[in-house]
Amino acid sequence: MADIEIRPLEDSPAVRRALAEMLVEVVANGGSVNFMHPLPLETAEVAWADWLAAAARGERIVLGAFDGETLAATVSLLPAPQPNQPHRAEIGKMMTRVSHRGRGLARALLQAAEVLARGQGRSLLVLDTAVEDGAAGLYEKQGYSLAGIIPDYAYKPHGGLTGSAFYYKRI
Ligand SMILES: CC(C)(COP(=O)(O)OP(=O)(O)OC[C@H]1O[C@@H](n2cnc3c(N)ncnc32)[C@H](O)[C@@H]1OP(=O)(O)O)[C@@H](O)C(=O)NCCC(=O)NCCS
Repeated sequence: MADIEIRPLEDSPAVRRALAEMLVEVVANGGSVNFMHPLPLETAEVAWADWLAAAARGERIVLGAFDGETLAATVSLLPAPQPNQPHRAEIGKMMTRVSHRGRGLARALLQAAEVLARGQGRSLLVLDTAVEDGAAGLYEKQGYSLAGIIPDYAYKPHGGLTGSAFYYKRI
């Protein structure tokens, strides 16, 4: 982890392309991140362009974990926009390149997102993850509590329905 740098990402052709390639790879490998396989690279680039534009408007923070020049993992922090939820934020779009899994990048990104959330006065974090092939273990190890499971919530990237598990953490 000593060689990993975490920082907020801003839109540029290189950043957008790196994020898009990561998203395509993650979906191809069965990651449940709202897309079906096969995901065209152009579609992934358009999605990231939207999310990075939202980041430029201050509506989310897209964090990247870099191994040297390589963007190896990402997570997004979405402060709730609702006027009655100024204390809440959502964690989303957590993914690590296959080549860099099992090295603590996702854990480090989650912890960095929590520091940012606290800095914005957000004290309640929520997220959801697929029941099958999801990342419940990652979140539970970081202290997230299971609120409940909704069955048949979404299709897995290669087909077949799976439930979604909804988690929260007070920070
Ligand atoms: C889930 C994902 C982001 C984990 O990334 P990673 O960088 O390999 O995770 P880390 O190395 O930081 O793991 C930290 C800890 O969580 C555990 N963990 C990570 N992913 C896990 C999973 N899918 N299920 C159970 N435990 C998991 C690790 O074993 C590790 O435990 P340890 O602290 O006892 O060593 C990665 O596997 C991925 O991109 N998956 C596909 C996309 C996806 O499912 N994203 C989550 C959407 S909600």
